[in-house]
Amino acid sequence: MDLGIKGRVAIVTGGSRGIGRETAREFLEAGVKVMTCSRNGDQLKATCGELAKQTGGEIRGIVADMTQPGDQQRLVDETLATYGTIDILVNNAGTMYSGRFEELTEEGLQTQLDTKLFGWMRAIRTVWPIMRDKNWGRIVSLIGGAGKEPDPYMFGSGMTNSALLNMTKSLSTEFAPHNVLVNAVCPGWVATDLWKRNAGGLQKELGVGSEDEARRLASKKNALGRFGKPEELANAIAFLCSERASYITGVSLNLDGGRLKGLW
Ligand SMILES: NC(=O)c1ccc[n+]([C@@H]2O[C@H](COP(=O)([O-])OP(=O)(O)OC[C@H]3O[C@@H](n4cnc5c(N)ncnc54)[C@H](OP(=O)(O)O)[C@@H]3O)[C@@H](O)[C@H]2O)c1
Repeated sequence: MDLGIKGRVAIVTGGSRGIGRETAREFLEAGVKVMTCSRNGDQLKATCGELAKQTGGEIRGIVADMTQPGDQQRLVDETLATYGTIDILVNNAGTMYSGRFEELTEEGLQTQLDTKLFGWMRAIRTVWPIMRDKNWGRIVSLIGGAGKEPDPYMFGSGMTNSALLNMTKSLSTEFAPHNVLVNAVCPGWVATDLWKRNAGGLQKELGVGSEDEARRLASKKNALGRFGKPEELANAIAFLCSERASYITGVSLNLDGGRLKGLW
């Protein structure tokens, strides 16, 4: 399918690995110019080099930290200086804050809120006037199923994610008159570094003897019986950012292989 976004400009935060990296690849293959960021400059440089070589597309990356007020503006300024405009924002940079209530610390929750709630809201604030003035824009945020279906092990992520879902719906209404579409995706378990970093904690939570067993049990909760692949997430994200999704706004699409059983 032709996504109809050749020549558009996208910011994908956290594109050095995982879902962000595959989303950047999808855009490059669709002829979209990409700006990305992460905190680790070496990994970012290597990824941008590999993706440019593999796709022949235009991609740049800068070191930026979504928890730092001011870094979002730097990212936007760099994008405008490089490509002249911004059409698409994918809020992806971040991680999961797992653990039950007794393990949750205020500092840990604050970091999660600083990264995904305040960091992403600031990113939206910086791109919004540009999209508003051109009467075209796509914003997609990677949230997570715990925002819809509370899970004691995902206490900190769940609270953050619910706020992000609320932000998505509210902004989709506010931005719609300017043809700026605001959507979210809610991944279940996806096979990335994030999963590996959480495997020990999940093993303890599920009371099993190995990470493989934890993965098997976590997979069984999904109707499809397996983890997602980063490229499967990227396909749906690129579609939501495309011309083909021109009548979709305010949705939060579950990309979880059928894990959530609720009706939304
Ligand atoms: N994988 C899953 O199962 C899953 C499930 C639900 C939701 N999600 C969400 O999906 C998104 C991507 O997850 P993933 O699995 O692809 O994770 P990942 O493999 O750990 O990649 C995360 C990316 O974000 C960057 N990043 C993290 N914190 C950042 C910060 N403060 N500022 C700038 N860049 C930052 C990382 O680079 P640096 O570390 O170098 O900064 C990396 O490029 C995250 O928001 C995550 O919460 C994932």
